[in-house]
Order: sequence, then C-alpha cells, then structure tokens
Amino acid sequence: FTVDWDTGHYDTGGYEHYLLKEISEQPDTVGRTLRGRIDDRFHIAHLGGLNMDARESRSFRRVKIIGCGSAYYSGQIGAQLIEELARIPADAEPASEFRYRSPVVEADTLYIAISQSGETYDTLAAVQELKRKGGRVLGIVNTVGSAIARECDGGVYLHAGPEVSVASTKAFTSTSAAFALLALHLGRVRDLSPADGRRICDGLRRLPEQIKEMLTQEEHIRELAMRYAKDAAGMMFVGRVRGYPVAREGAQKLKEISYVHAEAYPASELKHGPLALIGPEMPTVAIVPDDELLDKNLTTLGEIRARSGRILMVGHRTADQADDCIVVPKNETELDPILLTIPLQLFAYHAAVALGRDVDKPRNLAKSVTVE
Ligand code: AGP
Repeated sequence: FTVDWDTGHYDTGGYEHYLLKEISEQPDTVGRTLRGRIDDRFHIAHLGGLNMDARESRSFRRVKIIGCGSAYYSGQIGAQLIEELARIPADAEPASEFRYRSPVVEADTLYIAISQSGETYDTLAAVQELKRKGGRVLGIVNTVGSAIARECDGGVYLHAGPEVSVASTKAFTSTSAAFALLALHLGRVRDLSPADGRRICDGLRRLPEQIKEMLTQEEHIRELAMRYAKDAAGMMFVGRVRGYPVAREGAQKLKEISYVHAEAYPASELKHGPLALIGPEMPTVAIVPDDELLDKNLTTLGEIRARSGRILMVGHRTADQADDCIVVPKNETELDPILLTIPLQLFAYHAAVALGRDVDKPRNLAKSVTVE
C-alpha cells in the first residue's frame, strides 16, 4: 500500500515548532515502528518486508550500512546492534562516500540503506550502484513508496509519519528501533538465545513509556541548554562504543539548528588531539551509559575537568566528575542509545530557540537532498 502526505497540510499541533512536535511524538512513533513486529512466543521479530527466509537470513557473513547525515549515525547504532545481537561483523559508512569509491560488492554481504525521505540522491545512487553489481540491499525507510524503498530488495518501513522539520528526530529513533528488530531477527536465526531474545523484546516494549518519562525533563534540559550552549564558543560531544553515535547525533543536531560549533569524538580519542581544545569556553556533553565502559568514561571526565572543562553528563546516574547531569531511564544496554538521544534533541532545540534560530528551516539546509 502507499501513503501520500503533503507537508503543507500538517500543522504544529499546538507546539511552537514542528521540531518540538516531532520530538514529543516519539513515544508514539517508536511504538508504531515496533507495533505487530514483536513475537512473544519465540522472542523474535516479524519483519515480513525483508523478503528473506530464515536460511537466507543466516547466509550473510557481513553487514554494510549506508546513509547520509543522521541516517548514517543511526546506521552506526544499527551496526553496533547487529554485531552485538547477531555477532555478524557490521559497519556503517556515509552513502555519499561509499558510492564514489568503487566499493567491492560481495554476495555474502547484506547491504542496508537508510533514509527518512527515501529520496536522498547520494543514498539512492549508492543503492543503484549496489544493485548494478548484484548486491542484496534492504531499505530502512520512512516514506512509503519512495525512490529508495522502490529500489531495494526488501526492508522495514518506520511508520513514523511525516517528518517536517529539517532536523531529523523521530525518524532517527524509529530507525534505531527498526535496527533493534532487525538485529533481533538476525540474532535469533543464529545463536542469540531465547532468554536474550526475550530480554530484548521486553526492553523494546518498555521504550515508548521510557521516552515519555524522558520528555518530562524538558524544562531541566531547557535550562541546561541556556547555560551551556548559548554563549559557548563551541561544544564537544564524547561517547564510547554505543555512546559514540549518540554523541555524533547530538553534535549534528546542535550545529544544524543552533549553528553552535560542535565536535563529536570517541571519548577514548580525546587524548590523541582534541583535548587541546578543552577549556572553560568549550563545554563537553559526555554520553556515559551504565555499561562496561562506565569507569573508563568517568576517568575521561576527570581528565576534562583537570583542564577546566565544564561537563554535562548524559547517562543513568549522577557523578561528581560532572558539573551537571541528565539522568535517562535505563533499558537493556543494547537499546540504551535510543533513549540517550532524546535529551540531546531537546538540548539542541532549546539552544536554537534561545539563540533565535529558524528552528524548522535552518539556513543552507534542505529537508531532502535530492541533488548530488
Ligand atoms: C538530519 O537532521 C539532517 N537533516 C540530515 O543529516 C539527514 O538525516 C540526511 O540528509 C539524510 O536524509 P534522509 O534520511 O532523508 O535520507
């Protein structure tokens, strides 16, 4: 079936901007991505649109994910999920680069293209290049019947509804949720145990309610955005492993809509260069989930502090090493990146509002980049 939408017909639903509306919709939009796709009998995901039977799903030895901008960052979350749950080597790459480097296309690699609009030219051209070389390509796409969706061999629709604001928010979290379903599927046809399958199914089900809980902290985050981003010369976003794509997306949101310069680095890389930037005028947003890297992350915060850097920590607890903390509801470790993204969206939104930016239509950017 196809769904037609014309953004001209959408209002802001009482919100000041589409962006805030779309951020606020996420309990519902993530719920829609998951709806009818979790099977409690076998603790698996039903993704009929993949057009692949179990034998075929088992046959891939690698996964390569492509997308542009925020779609690429959600692809990094997806690669991490697939490696963790299905134990298949997976990585993400900007589609815009991939298509120009004459990629080696292998029969035992599953290619996944991500696009909210389904019309991004670089991603479409990369899919066409893959298809030309015989690659198997799935799409994780929001817009039903879009060019990329039509070009792929199968895929997962997000069902997140139209995203109007140029900055992607609900498509990002829905894409990450769709990747969790896909990773669950690929894991359960391999060696992911029923117990772990159940753990992920239960975690996915908790997500909408936890997003709702996270959104209640908006006022606190607005106050932090005023304090940190408004007068900053720039901001550093750091995270490790699961936290790194979250940091990249946080930096992307901030620069895109508030025009505040933002850099994202793996926290482990700080000492190899970017630590030189740290000082009182360059605050850091640190993504510090309660996972096996917690102690290492807290040590990094100590190093930033020692250079007089201010720290806003986004994680599952408060810590003395940070000046301020946003405490996010805890889910299963693999799913935590989805929830950790939400406060960064609100942070960027309120920074942009405080700076008087055109939040929904930032300068120099288009919602859908249909040219090279
Ligand atoms: C996200 O906030 C940006 N507007 C941008 O990076 C976007 O994600 C990218 O252009 C890809 O768009 P798509 O998902 O429609 O392909």
